Amino acid sequence: MSQPEGQSNTLDNLLEENRTFPPTAEFAANANATAELYAKADEDRLGFWAEQARRLQWDTEWDQVLDWSNPPFAEWFVGGRLNVAHNCVDRHVEAGNGDRVAIYWEGEPGDSRRITYSDLQREVSKTANALAELGVGSGDRVAIYLPMLPEAVFSMLACARLGALHSVVFGGFSAEALRSRINDAEATVVITCDGQFRRGQAMPLKANVDEAVTGTPSVEHVLVVQRTEAEVEWNSERDKWWHDVVDRQPEQHAAESFDSEHPLYILYTSGTTGKPKGILHTSGGYLTQAAYTHNAVFDLKPESDVYWCTADIGWVTGHTYIVYGPLANGASQVIYEGTPNSPHEGRHWEIVQKYGVTLYYTAPTTIRTFMKWGAEIPAQYDLSTLRVLGTVGEPINPEAWMWYRDQIGGGTAPIVDTWWQTETGAIMISPLPGVTAAKPGSAQQPLPGVSASVVDENGNQVGNGEGGLLVLDKPWPSMLRGIWGDQQRFVDTYWSRFAEQGYYFAGDGAKYDDDGDLWLLGRVDDVMNVSGHRISTTEVESALVSHPTVAEAAVVGASDPTTGQGIVAFVITRGDHAGETTVSALRDHVAQSIGPIAKPRQIMVVSELPKTRSGKIMRRLLRDVAENREVGDVSTLADSSVMDQITAGMQSGK
Ligand code: WTA
Repeated sequence: MSQPEGQSNTLDNLLEENRTFPPTAEFAANANATAELYAKADEDRLGFWAEQARRLQWDTEWDQVLDWSNPPFAEWFVGGRLNVAHNCVDRHVEAGNGDRVAIYWEGEPGDSRRITYSDLQREVSKTANALAELGVGSGDRVAIYLPMLPEAVFSMLACARLGALHSVVFGGFSAEALRSRINDAEATVVITCDGQFRRGQAMPLKANVDEAVTGTPSVEHVLVVQRTEAEVEWNSERDKWWHDVVDRQPEQHAAESFDSEHPLYILYTSGTTGKPKGILHTSGGYLTQAAYTHNAVFDLKPESDVYWCTADIGWVTGHTYIVYGPLANGASQVIYEGTPNSPHEGRHWEIVQKYGVTLYYTAPTTIRTFMKWGAEIPAQYDLSTLRVLGTVGEPINPEAWMWYRDQIGGGTAPIVDTWWQTETGAIMISPLPGVTAAKPGSAQQPLPGVSASVVDENGNQVGNGEGGLLVLDKPWPSMLRGIWGDQQRFVDTYWSRFAEQGYYFAGDGAKYDDDGDLWLLGRVDDVMNVSGHRISTTEVESALVSHPTVAEAAVVGASDPTTGQGIVAFVITRGDHAGETTVSALRDHVAQSIGPIAKPRQIMVVSELPKTRSGKIMRRLLRDVAENREVGDVSTLADSSVMDQITAGMQSGK
């Protein structure tokens, strides 16, 4: 098994976890999703999904639920036609809910905006008209490089409305990372803003775009939202202010319907190589599973709930559980611009209290940060409205789970630990809050309609109490439809490992406990998980070796009490540059080429790297060093003394 060494202790502790927390009788009695759903989906899986698809408004109904005649290329709701933006906006207005608040937007400095579904309809229509004026049509690509502003939502939905694909690039990525994503998708328009408020400061954003678009031949226009009013460089041929172009547009826009398999968006995510993958999602199946899971997992009652997902819109969680799922379901939700400690460490709880948030969805790393700040902070606020708590992004340790339940959830709110990926598009494995007796740290069961399994290296299912690799053994509606521009990589990455069985290989290790519940154990490949962000070791290694003073680099994810994993790099400097490189210059260089999220926590300058006789770097041994463990078996090293040198260097603090 390629399960990272050193996790086994944690694993044993985890698996001793035997407390369970069933929902209260009252919650169970009123829950959207009941136990019968499992049986129903088992009996007739495709019939079950067809029923879920009826949550949406289709202009033409499908004539086949699933076409899996050419795996791994799935088609869902074949022949069906719909407009995704119409489903997320207009249909709620048409149903008489135009006055319902769609978005309670809260700016970091304390300004706020309240946007009803009618407002949203006007804003999305104006944005769609503006994009059309800029030449955007069906199938075109629009890059969105925006922080947590309502305009990010308007832009995404405007693309969907026009049948154009959005490619949202997280605002924390560098100009270089933005450029390569723009070029890979050949985007014609980039939407950005002057800057954003972070930690009490106005931070520039447009400057990164200016730098990025120096090498992007496809880009014709840059549309700029004004947020901080900071001065920006201006290219009058290319740059256009949002308020000049969007504000004057007609408030109506007739939404055309598109095929169920019409592409909806591209979202780049890290794989095991240096080049990020443009994960492609399409319309009908994606929106179906987004809406269904948001309803079932969060128990959303759109008339009374106030939902808040704290993810950034630049990640898949923001796509599915801020934009598409909640809006398809007509939810009222909070969107917050800033960081959790601006201007004080109680900011999230102040917002929960202000808006009466009932459903709250965040990442384990954020919960661990709140724990560090202390329980007395949330205790100062009224959190009694909270009734479901969710987590996503990495395994949650039972201690953080219990803290979340007790200190935030009042000791009663069910916690849904949701496992999924950019590639799966929507939640796959999670407790149902009104059904499951929740276990701290376990994602427990695939959702009704979803099928997952833990298998050994040969693809045989392992038994209870045993671990292996997580696979998805049946297609699901929101599955990725490919990698933009590289379908061979799609086949190779996800479908070749268990080609014989036809399983999707998720890249995660997992284990069944004695009750048959699933425990996710982290990645088994070279993908690190830092604060819930996926970063590949190779990506950071290539950034490091692109620095003129670095000859070779090896990067590992070392366990970190707050961020899950921290990036630790081992570098060999070039002979002719020995002594010139400073560790902080290298860290900055990585931030420059990928983004601040990829900055190594620690960089060690070493004289050799541990390699096998065939020249493969043994990261396992470096991880031992980075995690302060005794170094494991070195017998396959070409030169076994290398590890002694590295550990000696570590101990002497070099
Ligand atoms: C990890 C985020 C354990 C996992 C939606 C997966 C989790 C990767 C969980 C996908 C969870 C996500 N428990 N691990 N509840 N949720 N992961 O694409 O390793 O950013 O493969 O999607 O995060 O990260 P991505």
